[in-house]
Amino acid sequence: MKVLVVGSGGREHAICWSILKSNKVSKVFCAPGNAGIGDIVDLVNIDSDDIANLLGFALSNKIDLTIVGPEQPLSVGIVDLFRENGLLIFGPNKDSAQLESSKEFSKIFMKKHHIPTANFESFSDYDEAIKFVSNSNYPLVVKADGLAAGKGVRVCFNLEEASEFLTFLMQDKIFSLSGEKVVIEEFLEGEEASFFVFTDGRTILPLDSSQDHKRLLDNDLGPNTGGMGAYSPAPIIDHETRDNIMNDIVHPVFAGFKKDSINYTGVLYIGLMIKNKKSKVVEFNCRFGDPETQPLLYRLDSDAFDLFYMTAKEELKDYKLLWKKKSSVTVVMAAKGYPGKYDLDKPIKNLSKLRTQGVTIFHAGTSKIDNEVCINGGRVLGVTAEGDSLEDAVALVYESVFKIDSTNLVYRKDIGQKGLRKKP
Ligand code: AMP
Ligand code: GLY
Repeated sequence: MKVLVVGSGGREHAICWSILKSNKVSKVFCAPGNAGIGDIVDLVNIDSDDIANLLGFALSNKIDLTIVGPEQPLSVGIVDLFRENGLLIFGPNKDSAQLESSKEFSKIFMKKHHIPTANFESFSDYDEAIKFVSNSNYPLVVKADGLAAGKGVRVCFNLEEASEFLTFLMQDKIFSLSGEKVVIEEFLEGEEASFFVFTDGRTILPLDSSQDHKRLLDNDLGPNTGGMGAYSPAPIIDHETRDNIMNDIVHPVFAGFKKDSINYTGVLYIGLMIKNKKSKVVEFNCRFGDPETQPLLYRLDSDAFDLFYMTAKEELKDYKLLWKKKSSVTVVMAAKGYPGKYDLDKPIKNLSKLRTQGVTIFHAGTSKIDNEVCINGGRVLGVTAEGDSLEDAVALVYESVFKIDSTNLVYRKDIGQKGLRKKP
């Protein structure tokens, strides 16, 4: 089978790496990919949101399955376009991708179907929004309605912060149309975790648990990022918490899809806030998480290609999901300055020479210049390791991280510690 993976992050590197292990896969392409992905599959120089050219490539190369990593191509209808042209593709159609591309759409869906989430109001009028935050209690959360590359949300602790962010979004339009409408919601207390459910529209298949670390600095301090590290399984999701997630959230969500004729296929990412074993939905994403995909696919013991293929073929009911009895952890190494401004093209010296048994370095924002791996994006590497316990995995991953030239990189030193504190 010939597979096209769309995207260029650590998530797509992990997807390419895991499907290559399948003996059903003869060839993998990745568009546009990165330096690390280019070491294992053929790169295609087409941007991930250039869906017309991706279609042309898939048709002329007789691609058997396309797997879409990021949200942008989904939100502009890559799945609809490929299906209209008779191609098999993994991901939700444009209509159902609104669960991520419009916060208001997802909040209205949750309210309608009684899915636990923060109370909210939405506004298209700046003055109305300012009036609302002037009469609110704090903290509260201001969100751009549309996609904003993970930067469209601010937890505000006072009126000044809320008004400033509303001005950025609605008047300065820093995220252009994405901020024309805003959702303002109640602040939820608790611990965040990520929950992924595969579905072909008939069968639902929840994956094992994982937890991201969204803040830049140790002890969950500093600004929010796309994710600085993740591990799986996440001890916070014990049996009771998982049962509650299935009963309170997953089943009602899929019942809601049915009632509203939303034909969701692919993977649904449910961002959760957990308190006393009960969860509320922080957000839906219509794609796999990054970096959560890396530790999850690292632990997958069944055929990764089949997982994507059988989902796209509507044969998920026959897939036997197996996990290694291991813990895995990914530490993200980001460019100095991220999530703000950072320098491109700085080298990470001798990276290709580094080899540690049980450790894989998934690339995100990297390119190759004169055969040296260089920085080409905010999150640069996702160093991933597994161990018999979370403790072993954490020890092994940091052994490797410490060997990497971090002159131009930053990383958290406490990835996994939250999970270790919860172990009995
Ligand atoms: P979102 O893009 O909606 O997931 O928001 C990004 C991040 O903002 C989340 O991962 C949380 O850390 C934080 N956040 C969003 N909504 C809330 C909320 N209602 N209460 C507390 N934190 C939130
Ligand atoms: N890890 C957060 C995200 O993928 O959105």
